[in-house]
Amino acid sequence: MTCSQTTLGPGLRRGNGALWSMTLTHHTLPLVERPAWRALHAHLPQAQRLHLRQLFADDPRRGERLALEACGIYFDYSKNRIAPGTLELLLQLAHESALRERIEAMFRGDKINATENRAVLHVALRAPRSARIEVDGADVVPEVHAVLDRMADFAERVRSGAWRGHTGRPIRTVVNIGIGGSDLGPVMAYEALRHYSARNLDFRFVSNIDGTDFAEAVHGLDPAETLFIVASKTFTTLETMTNAASARAWLLAGLGGDAAAVAKHFVAVSTAAAEVARFGIDTAHMFGFWDWVGGRYSMDSAIGLSTMIAIGPAQFRALLDGFHVVDEHFRHAPFERNLPVLHGLLSIWNNNFLGAHSAAVLPYEQYLKRFPAYLQQLTMESNGKRVTLAGHPVACDTGPIFWGEPGTNGQHSFYQLIHLGTRLVPCDFIAFAQPLNPLGNHHDLLLANVFAQGEALAFGKTPEQLRAEGCPEPLVPHRTFEGNRPSNTLLLRELTPYALGTLVALYEHSVFVQGAIWDINPFDQWGVELGKALAQRIVPELVGPEVELHHDGSTNALIRRYQQMKGGGPR
Ligand code: F6P
Repeated sequence: MTCSQTTLGPGLRRGNGALWSMTLTHHTLPLVERPAWRALHAHLPQAQRLHLRQLFADDPRRGERLALEACGIYFDYSKNRIAPGTLELLLQLAHESALRERIEAMFRGDKINATENRAVLHVALRAPRSARIEVDGADVVPEVHAVLDRMADFAERVRSGAWRGHTGRPIRTVVNIGIGGSDLGPVMAYEALRHYSARNLDFRFVSNIDGTDFAEAVHGLDPAETLFIVASKTFTTLETMTNAASARAWLLAGLGGDAAAVAKHFVAVSTAAAEVARFGIDTAHMFGFWDWVGGRYSMDSAIGLSTMIAIGPAQFRALLDGFHVVDEHFRHAPFERNLPVLHGLLSIWNNNFLGAHSAAVLPYEQYLKRFPAYLQQLTMESNGKRVTLAGHPVACDTGPIFWGEPGTNGQHSFYQLIHLGTRLVPCDFIAFAQPLNPLGNHHDLLLANVFAQGEALAFGKTPEQLRAEGCPEPLVPHRTFEGNRPSNTLLLRELTPYALGTLVALYEHSVFVQGAIWDINPFDQWGVELGKALAQRIVPELVGPEVELHHDGSTNALIRRYQQMKGGGPR
C-alpha cells in the first residue's frame, strides 16, 4: 500500500463502554495530516536523488556523526538513506505523534492496550525492587519481585539437584512446553545464553502441535529425571494443552502410572490459576504473571523460568538489568539520542517512504540463531495491524515483514537478493567485539564479513570500477552493485545476559515507536483468532466421510481427501 493523502476520520471514539475507556489524553492529527508527515513526503524526492556514496563524500564525518552509543550498544545508522533534514523531520513526526506522552502513558500503567482494556507493563518486570509502578492504584513491583524470588529458589533447587523427581533422582532435563511468546522467548534466550548455562542440565522446547515436536523432544529422556514446565499465559492454548497432556501420559507411562509423580515433574507458568489446577498441577508449583504482560513481551516474567534454571538467578537478574537500562534510556533520553526512537523512526522511513516491505535482522553471532524468529513474533504480531486505535483503516503500510538468519550463513543463500535483487531490504547487522568461543582467527573473519556486507550494500560497485578491473563487457550489468541499500549496524562488546536484555528491549521499544506513529495498538493479536476458531470447528469433521461439510469447495475437498488418505484410501 502506498501512503495516500486521504484524511482520516475523527480521533478516538469515546463513550463506547469499557473497550474505549482508555482514550488517549493526547490528541494527534491523523497521520497523513501531520505537518511532518507531509513535509517528509515533500522531502522524499530530494532524499531519493542522493546516493549513499555522495552522502558520505559530502560529509566525511557522517560515519561517526550518525552513530550513537548508549546502554552498551554502538548503533551506526549512517548507512541509511537519510539526507540532510530527514532525521529532523522524522523527529518532528515523533513529537507530532505524541510519542513522549504515549511513552509516559505506558510507563504510568495506563490501559494503552485499548482493545483488551489492559495496561502494558513489561517494563515493570525488570524494574528494581525500589521502583513503584501502579496498575489500578496498586503497586505491582512487590508482586513481580515475589515471583522472581520464588523462581530463584526453585531454579537453585533444580540446578543443585535438591529438587528430586518422583523416584528420588535429580532432574537432568528441563522441557519447556509453550508456544508463541511462551516458547520463542525461552528458546531464543536459552540458545543465546547457552554459554552461561548449567551444562549438567539439558533443555528442550516443545511448541508445535505436530506430534513430531514432542516425540523428538523427549526422545532418549528418562522420565524420572525430566521436569516439564508448562508455560501458557492463558493455560487454554490448544497446542500447549495438547502437548502437556501427552507429556503427562508419557511421564506416567514411564513411572508406573502413579499420578503423584505429576507434582514432582510438572510446574506451571501462567496467569490462570484455576486452569492450572484443572490440569492437575498443584498451584503451589505455579509461577504467576499478570494480564498486563503480553505474551511476546513475557520472556522476563515467569515465562523465563527455563532461562533462569539454565543460567541461574544472578545471570537472570543481569538480563533484567539490561532490559531496565534500555527502559530508562527510552523513557528519558532526548529523542535525537534515543536508540529505540531512532531505530523505530528509521524503520518508518524505510517502510513508509522508501517502500521497503521487509526488514532483515542478521546477527553475526551463532548463539543468536533464534533471534530473528523471536523478533518475528515481537514485531509482526505487534504491528501487523490494519486499523488505527480508533478503528479506522490505516493510511499507509504498517509492520514490515521481519526475517533473518545468522551471518555468515545467510551470505551464501539470500544475500544475492539483498545486494542485487529488485527489492529494498533494510538490514540490521548485529555483532559482538569479543567472541565467547575464541578460536584461531574465526572472530576477525566473522567481523570482517559483517563490516563488508554493510559497506557493499551502501557503496556497491560501479560499472567503471568493474571495467577498470578488466571485467568483460557482457558481464558488467550482471556484476554491477548499485549500492545505496540501507543498513544499521549494532555493535556490542560481548554477548552477555545483560547485553541480550538491552537488545531485546531496544526492539520492543522500537516496535512501540512505530506503533505510536501509525496510531495502532501493538498489544493485541486478534489476527490469530479466526484460524484458531475454524480449526476447532474442523477437528470433529475429520473423523470420516459420514460428517456433512459446509465449508467452501476447496476446504471441503481438502478435508475429504485427507480422510481418504489417512484411512489408506485410493492413492
Ligand atoms: O495465538 C497467539 C498467542 O496468543 C500469542 O500471543 C501468545 O504468545 C501465544 O498465543 C501463546 O499463548 P499462551 O501463553 O496463552 O499459551
